[in-house]
Amino acid sequence: MEKEKPQWSSHISFIIATIGSAVGVGNIWRFPYIMGENGGALFLITYLALIVLFSVVPLCCELVIGKTYRTDAVSAFEQINKKFKWFGWLCVLTVILIPCFYFVVGGWILNYIWIFLTNNIPNNFTNYFSGFSSQVFVPCILSLIFLLMTAVFPYRGVNKGIEKANNIMMPIFAVMLIVMAIYALTLPGTKEGLAFMFKPDFSEFDTSMILTALGQALFTLSIGMGAMITYGSYMKENTNIVKSAYTLIFFDTLVAITAGIMIFPIVFTFGVKPTAGATLVFISLPEMLAKLPFAPVFGSIFFILFFFSAITSGISILETSVSSFMNQFKITRQKATIINAIIIAIFSIPAALAFGPLKDFKILDRTIFAFLDYATSNILLPFNTILICLIAGWCIKSLWKTNFGETFFGYMFNIMLKFIVPLVLIFVLLAGI
Ligand code: TRP
Repeated sequence: MEKEKPQWSSHISFIIATIGSAVGVGNIWRFPYIMGENGGALFLITYLALIVLFSVVPLCCELVIGKTYRTDAVSAFEQINKKFKWFGWLCVLTVILIPCFYFVVGGWILNYIWIFLTNNIPNNFTNYFSGFSSQVFVPCILSLIFLLMTAVFPYRGVNKGIEKANNIMMPIFAVMLIVMAIYALTLPGTKEGLAFMFKPDFSEFDTSMILTALGQALFTLSIGMGAMITYGSYMKENTNIVKSAYTLIFFDTLVAITAGIMIFPIVFTFGVKPTAGATLVFISLPEMLAKLPFAPVFGSIFFILFFFSAITSGISILETSVSSFMNQFKITRQKATIINAIIIAIFSIPAALAFGPLKDFKILDRTIFAFLDYATSNILLPFNTILICLIAGWCIKSLWKTNFGETFFGYMFNIMLKFIVPLVLIFVLLAGI
């Protein structure tokens, strides 16, 4: 237990930390590849509409819960009503399952930083990727190293660890991203790449694209597992929640689009199909980077910025479960971090082995890695978000009036929170299953 409830030392630190949480593998890896698979510009428009009008509701809701109860996810739901404590634990379970595959990706990133920094660039990335990801030792050790690097920050505390890490890493990340995007814009594939992103082709429209866009619009903002409740619980008293939420949405989207601007010109320069799927960033992209001028420099920059985005999200994932363990089991932050790191390490080993020794072990026709990704993003995340909205909307007395007043936003928020968001998500969840 911490004697005094920690607080972000400034409003800017709070915003940077939430951006650090939101901007991650979801922006650099997931967004470009699903945009590639779903037809580019039309997907982008749908996604923008959903994130601005829809995702903002559960996001504000989590931040409000954090600000109101000033505690972790489990204790917050327990305080709303003892009946809901189990739900707080479900959020924590989700946040423990996510890193099991997220940190495996973190391990791969470390590997790629190494090969570009040391200029040991393989000729064929398809073989290289399947070669190292199917080993036993390398993927496990790398994801453990990534886990250790992440755990240092929650271990050190909110101000000395989490806040400092974000304040240092996020600006470097931004500069590197801009450098990479400018570099990509000098390549011959720029025109085609940008047309793919910004010129809609309405013949590509289909409903499953909307569902994918919605899933991404929740995942990318770290909604649905109490992470924003936790970061929100450290905010200063006079913080404006709506403004903070839109600032976060603005920057998260800006990063996702800039990541597209960085990736698609490279993709089109080599005439590779942007629909390469999940391997876009680990096979197609490095292969192309390797053929471009200054490969070791830009390859390293790309994977280092990817690393910063992943670790700042990893920190917020860990902090969510750490703060719950601290309060629920009355243990120190350090003990809670160590326990959580051990749990995650044990769970992530099977996911790290899912490309090698365990590749034939299938749950619902998926490898362990793919199953964890699917179960968290497509099932637990929408399910949790539905419950967060319903509990906040129906069980916290006039949450919207207290926080947003009788304004247009307040009224809309209330209706969205109680009816529209849960109903749409129930539909999405059922359609997904
Ligand atoms: N938003 C993160 C990304 O885009 C991923 C994420 C999902 C996350 N849920 C989270 C991060 C909870 C921190 C906490 O990559």
